[in-house]
Amino acid sequence: MRKAVIFDLDGVITDTARYHFLAWKHMANQIGIDIDEKFNETLKGVDRMGSLERILALSKKHYSDNEKHALADQKNEYYKELIKGMTAKDLLPGAASALKSLKEMGVKTGLASVSKNAGTILDRLGISHCFDYVVDANLISKGKPDPEIFLTAAKELDTDPKDCVGVEDAVVGIQAIKSAGMYAIGVGDKSVLNQADRVIPDLNSMPLGEAFKAIP
Ligand code: BG6
Ligand code: MG
Repeated sequence: MRKAVIFDLDGVITDTARYHFLAWKHMANQIGIDIDEKFNETLKGVDRMGSLERILALSKKHYSDNEKHALADQKNEYYKELIKGMTAKDLLPGAASALKSLKEMGVKTGLASVSKNAGTILDRLGISHCFDYVVDANLISKGKPDPEIFLTAAKELDTDPKDCVGVEDAVVGIQAIKSAGMYAIGVGDKSVLNQADRVIPDLNSMPLGEAFKAIP
């Protein structure tokens, strides 16, 4: 049986993927760029500066490093406003019960989010204690689709990657899980997350109990 489950945060445990989109859109609009939900799929799972580079590539204007950092800070300030009032009510369906069931089954749990706001969000959701290990995004040098963040979580959980399941809502996240040699569960749309081993609509459908034991 698989021994650990490593979760992404934004878009899997809570709907912050929506807040990231709104904050990027707001920042982009200020400099005359517009982005839509389809473009946003290419930002999911990508770290802050990486996301900014993708957005700025839509414009012909050149931005200096100082300007880029100022724009990234601006986006993060909007984002922090949006997440200010988050509470346990913002957990996505099935998230709390999946974490609880895994614990009861003796399965280790990890968090592999590239977000530097992850710790704050876990605290606001009241679920920091539910994870055996939370990767510090500041210590990760290569973003998803590189497997580094999932391999770090597995190592810290003292579990072989082949005994781990990764859970993600982003295409690059699924690629990172597969490159790490883990079983990938996609949360969302099958046509988007077609590289996952299995796709579920939300964590209410997370394989648990006998279904978890049946994961190949
Ligand atoms: C990821 C999100 O989890 O974190 C991305 O999917 C986001 O949309 C990235 O850009 C970085 O987040 P933060 O909070 O460090 O800006
Ligand atoms: Mg995500």
